[in-house]
Amino acid sequence: MSAPTGDIGLIGLAVMGQNLILNAADHGFTVVAYNRTVAKVDEFLEGEAKGKSIIGAKSIEELCKNLKRPRRIILLVKAGKPVDAFIEQLLPHLEKGDIIIDGGNSHFPDSNRRFEELNKQGILFVGSGVSGGEEGARNGPSLMPGGHPDAWPHIKEIFQSIAAKSDGEPCCDWVGDAGAGHYVKMVHNGIEYGDMQLICEAYDLMKRVGKFTNKEMGDVFAKWNKGVLDSFLIEITRDILYFNDPTDNTPLLEKILDTAGQKGTGKWTAINALDLGMPVTLIGEAVFSRCLSAIKDERTTASKKLTGPEPVAITDKQQFVDDLEQALYASKIISYAQGFMLIREAAKEYGWKLNNPAIALMWRGGCIIRSVFLGEITSAFRENPDLENLLFHPFFNKAITEAQSGWRSTIGKAVASGIPVPAFTTALSFYDGYRSEVLPANLLQAQRDYFGAHTFQVLPGKENDFLKKGEWIHVNWTGRGGNVSASTYDA
Ligand code: 6PG
Repeated sequence: MSAPTGDIGLIGLAVMGQNLILNAADHGFTVVAYNRTVAKVDEFLEGEAKGKSIIGAKSIEELCKNLKRPRRIILLVKAGKPVDAFIEQLLPHLEKGDIIIDGGNSHFPDSNRRFEELNKQGILFVGSGVSGGEEGARNGPSLMPGGHPDAWPHIKEIFQSIAAKSDGEPCCDWVGDAGAGHYVKMVHNGIEYGDMQLICEAYDLMKRVGKFTNKEMGDVFAKWNKGVLDSFLIEITRDILYFNDPTDNTPLLEKILDTAGQKGTGKWTAINALDLGMPVTLIGEAVFSRCLSAIKDERTTASKKLTGPEPVAITDKQQFVDDLEQALYASKIISYAQGFMLIREAAKEYGWKLNNPAIALMWRGGCIIRSVFLGEITSAFRENPDLENLLFHPFFNKAITEAQSGWRSTIGKAVASGIPVPAFTTALSFYDGYRSEVLPANLLQAQRDYFGAHTFQVLPGKENDFLKKGEWIHVNWTGRGGNVSASTYDA
């Protein structure tokens, strides 16, 4: 039998899978394609794959036989059970040192588990974030691989050639051990939720307070896309606002039911932030906003029962739009600062060595959150990879300082008009909380101690015989309770 010629195998011929195969073939790699419904393989080979360096496989065995060693196999199947099922099917046909890459939106604890299980069998597992949708997969996605480090030298060339490029640099690098790649993709998706929510709030304010037409809003987004907000999501919003229903030539957007769907990756980010005790408030609000939108029937009832103010009058439309741009920009800076705070904490918690400049560069191009702004983040982290917080970097510090008045004024108008802006307001509250040396948690600690003897610590310099330095103190606030303090535990 002649030596196998396949450089990489791919399982799952839905549109993302097909496009990734075509992309790899365009870059000179021979790809072996397999799909559970085998007819799809034939269809693909006779269609778009025709004449390209793509080999069809009719079975998992055939797929594996056609691959050079170590075998490199990408799974692009539905996250969850299907990934485990395919791994099971692959194992009898693999040898030690072969590499399984899960390119789906898997939850990182699953990737941690798969990494461990496969490691015991000598198989190198990689969990890779793949972002950019169909178009990204075809022309250059953002790729975020993590897992067994021994796999990286064998997949680096393929991954970096098919990935998007930003100023000639691939938007793909090794993220870290075990589930780190899928973790970073999860945070990417959380940030994606945040960016989308911020844009939706800007749209709502322009529509309901500014009374802009869709064409006017499209023009605003077109202008924003040439400035600091230049990004894929601003660009597609411009196009969506300009898009008319061909049947009556009116904006199609206004005919779409206002209930948001979600597949759960934003929720995972918010849950993880809660688990790690990190105030990633903007992503949390973005997830809850989708939840609130989804209870449409209840909102319809409430809209008839609950009152609020009329929108304030906008006299200077240009100023309104300029302030809005600042609000969007400042809130976005907060969201990314929060995202990187979460990543920093995760690295500590899970023992990963995460590379911030590389993560920012991976998100700079190819993915859904790609933007000019991520180029600034990449530079900031390259200058100082251990930067404690994005907000401390001179560029972002200056940007958020300058954006403040427009940000506050926008939120003021929204609140006065009764228009919900949960992402804008949570970003500002975070900013004001983060820059407060003193917060009212002293009262909270006193309340906990009052009703539950949960104890508190004393401010430096305020110690005395009653309030002892460095001790956890319980006070008998009422004269009735005892002096016994409660033991602590973490739920
Ligand atoms: C990407 C996207 C993608 C995600 C969709 C839908 O990076 O290409 O993040 O992976 O699945 O955006 O997500 P929701 O259905 O949760 O909005």
